[in-house]
Amino acid sequence: MSQPLTSETGRAAMRALIKEKSALGPLKVMAQHIGHFFQIPLPGFRPYVVFGPEAARKVLVTEREKVLWRNTDPVTDYLDRGVLVVDGDEHDHYRKIMEPPLHPARLAGYTQMMISQTDRVTSQWRDGETVDMLVESRKIALLIIMQTLFSKDVWDDLQKIWKPILKAIEYISPGAWIIWRNMPRFGFRKPLRELDDYLFKIIEERRKTKDEWKVESGKSDLLQHLIDAGLTDKVIRDQMLTMMIAGHDTSTALLAWVFALLGQHPEILKQVVGEVDASEKSQMLEHVIKESLRLYPPIHIGNRRVVEDMQFSEGTVPAGERLFYSIYLTHRDPEIWENAEDFCPERFTHKGKTPPMSYIPFGAGPRVCIGAAFGQVEARVVMERLLQNFSFEFTKHPINAHMGATLEPRPGVMMKVTKRRETS
Ligand code: HEM
Repeated sequence: MSQPLTSETGRAAMRALIKEKSALGPLKVMAQHIGHFFQIPLPGFRPYVVFGPEAARKVLVTEREKVLWRNTDPVTDYLDRGVLVVDGDEHDHYRKIMEPPLHPARLAGYTQMMISQTDRVTSQWRDGETVDMLVESRKIALLIIMQTLFSKDVWDDLQKIWKPILKAIEYISPGAWIIWRNMPRFGFRKPLRELDDYLFKIIEERRKTKDEWKVESGKSDLLQHLIDAGLTDKVIRDQMLTMMIAGHDTSTALLAWVFALLGQHPEILKQVVGEVDASEKSQMLEHVIKESLRLYPPIHIGNRRVVEDMQFSEGTVPAGERLFYSIYLTHRDPEIWENAEDFCPERFTHKGKTPPMSYIPFGAGPRVCIGAAFGQVEARVVMERLLQNFSFEFTKHPINAHMGATLEPRPGVMMKVTKRRETS
């Protein structure tokens, strides 16, 4: 059985909160003091947290019918019928419609576009200036996702949609609403409506030009698949919003963390650049991306509602409770990972060293990330392009892991960029 929370654990958790400036610190303390199963003692909200391969396997695969994604909170209210937040047949239906454009066989067809979108963003950098790679990565990821899924070039609209998108992300990020469910939230109505209007306009334009889109189905984008499936504009909006946010905020965080980690480890950055210059496929870059996803998984926790009692070796979660499976704690479990807290990309050179379900940056089972292959190809293509064309020098400022909708490096990743060669 798990140990009860003692005042010593409480004090250590508080110290970790102050030191790490994020709830990740207290989570780690509770994991160390209590085990792989514990409850967070918030006022009026006491979710259970589980982690490690056993928990991941149960929640994601073997006992997944005992948990639901659907909750009643700002995330599910806002994304409404979006594939990420619905369950059962409804989920399976939307998921099937949206899988083809993200199928691994389609990915090679996106590479050139990913490169051009990256170049458009870097074309605005002045040689030798300092840029925030959190912001720049978001621009690149947004351009790429909108072009891929909706064939929409948002370059000229970036300024217009930037604030609405950031507000949408803020709206679904964890906050005081977790304990005060119906708290009034100001400043969101207008930007969220603007974003909706923008998406509905894209749908309307596509419906008007539908005949031009009657191309071979292998070439249809995600929007066309949604329209051809006969969904209403509202349900299409829910899927577009879900995919737009899930598909770019995660990649933004991943790219930004890769820069943060490379910035903090210049010797590894040098090695990666050397490999990228020398070969088509740098092994080291692959491992750096993987290690970044281990240490800072953009989706660091999975949120579920338990509908039937669930037993774990260290305790039982009763039906009706909230359950978080922690990807972050699984990835830093010292029982699984040697030097778990250290950035060590070489660990991925030795294949098969960790047990199954111990590395789950994209989740697992039938609800594994629909964009897992896409996201990894994107990170690789964008990183290669950036490293080939620019040198990056970290300005050595402190970085904290911020729990927003994704885990983000805050206040950003400030890097001095210097041109290495002209883009062609
Ligand atoms: C580095 C990039 C990414 C990471 C780390 C990531 C991570 C994840 C994780 C952990 C889940 C499972 C959540 C859970 O079970 O609670 C998930 C689901 C999902 N992801 Fe991603 N993701 C990434 C990129 C993408 C991209 C590029 C897209 C869209 C193009 C996307 C769309 C989705 C959707 C729609 C789901 C829900 C799937 C379902 O419930 O069937 N993600 N992602």
